[in-house]
Amino acid sequence: MDLPAQPQGLSLPSPLVIRLGLFAERQLTKAGDYLAAEEHARSTLPNGRWNGVAATNWASGFYAGCLWLTADRTGSDLWARRAAVQTEDLASMQFHTGDHDVGFRIWNSFGQGYRLTGDPAYHSVLLNAAQSLATRYDGTVGCTRSWDFGPWQYPVIIDNLMNLELLFWAAQNGGDPTWQSMAHSHALRSLQEHVRPDGSTYHVVDFDPSTGNVLWKGTYQGHADTSTWARGQAWAVYGLTMSYRYTGDPALLDGAQRVADFFVDHLPEDGVPYWDFQAPGLPNAARDSSAAAIAAAGLLELATHTPTPIDQVRYRLAAIRILKSLASDAYLAAGTPSHALLLHGVGHHPAGNEIDVSLIYGDYYFLEALSRL
Ligand code: GLY
Repeated sequence: MDLPAQPQGLSLPSPLVIRLGLFAERQLTKAGDYLAAEEHARSTLPNGRWNGVAATNWASGFYAGCLWLTADRTGSDLWARRAAVQTEDLASMQFHTGDHDVGFRIWNSFGQGYRLTGDPAYHSVLLNAAQSLATRYDGTVGCTRSWDFGPWQYPVIIDNLMNLELLFWAAQNGGDPTWQSMAHSHALRSLQEHVRPDGSTYHVVDFDPSTGNVLWKGTYQGHADTSTWARGQAWAVYGLTMSYRYTGDPALLDGAQRVADFFVDHLPEDGVPYWDFQAPGLPNAARDSSAAAIAAAGLLELATHTPTPIDQVRYRLAAIRILKSLASDAYLAAGTPSHALLLHGVGHHPAGNEIDVSLIYGDYYFLEALSRL
C-alpha cells in the first residue's frame, strides 16, 4: 500500500530504516546458510539459531514472507529466488483443510510472491487455498472454524481474523464471490463475540454448530479467560482493519478503532506489551515483541482509513512509538546471538513454549510495518 509522504516525526528516520533493512539481509543470510528448503524458520533456540519447521506448521509461511519482503525492498533477484524456493515447499498446504492456518501458511508466502511477481501459478495456489479455507465455513455460526482439536464444539479464535484476507482477496480476484460474504460474516461475528465492551478481546469463542449460539468464551494462549492475550489483541487490530479495507463496512472500522485504542492505552512505557495485558507478576512479566510488531503494522494501516486527521496522526504516532522501541537495543537482535530481527517474543506462555525467544512472525510484521512506512 502506498502511503503519502509524512511530516517529520510521523515516520522513522530514513538512515534507521536503511540500517534495519541491511540488518534484515544479514540475518536472513545467516538463516539461509543452514535452513533447507523444507525447513521454515519459526523461533530461535538458546544458541540463537532458528528452529526450522515443516510446511504443516501454522507459522511456516512467514519465513518465505520475510524473504519476499526483502526481495521487494532490495529489488534483488537473489532474494526473490530464495523466496520462491521456500515458497514452493509450501505448495501442498493449498489443499489443507484441517485448520484455519492455511491462510497464514499461504497468504504470507504465495500471496506476497504473487504481489511481487504476478506469477499465474501462485494465483491458482491462492484460489485453491481460499477454497480449502472456505470448506471450514458454517452458515449457522457464520464463521470459519479454527481448530479441530480440543474440548470445544466449534472453536473460533481471534487469530482467525487474519486468515480472512485470503478469502476476501480470492473473492475479488477470480475466485468464488461467495467467499466475500463468508469472510465479511466471520469478521462481523468475531467483532460481536470476541470483542468486549471495553475493546479488549477473548482469545477463543466456542459455538454450538446446531444453533450458532455461543457456548463459552475464554482463552487458550492467554493468562485467564477474563484477561487479554496481547498477540490476540494485536491480531484483532490488524485483522479488523484489513477486513474494513476489503468491505468498507463502518462497523469494522469502528471495531478496529476500539481494539486499537485498548491496545495502545494499555501499553507499558516502552510501547511493547507484556505477553498478556493482565499477566501474573506485572511488571516482571515477559514482553511479546511479536504482538507489538503485528499491532504496529495494523496501526499504520488503520491511520490511513480513519476519517479524522486527529485519529490518523494518533494511530500513526502509536505505530512509530512501537517501531522505535522495537528498533532500539532493548529489542533489536543486533549484537546478540539471535539470527532474528527481534528479541523477546512469547509463543505459548501457559504451555511453557517459546518464552522470551525470537519469533519469525514478529520479524515478518516488523518488516511489513517498515515497508508500510
Ligand atoms: N496463531 C497462533 C499464535 O498467534 O500463536
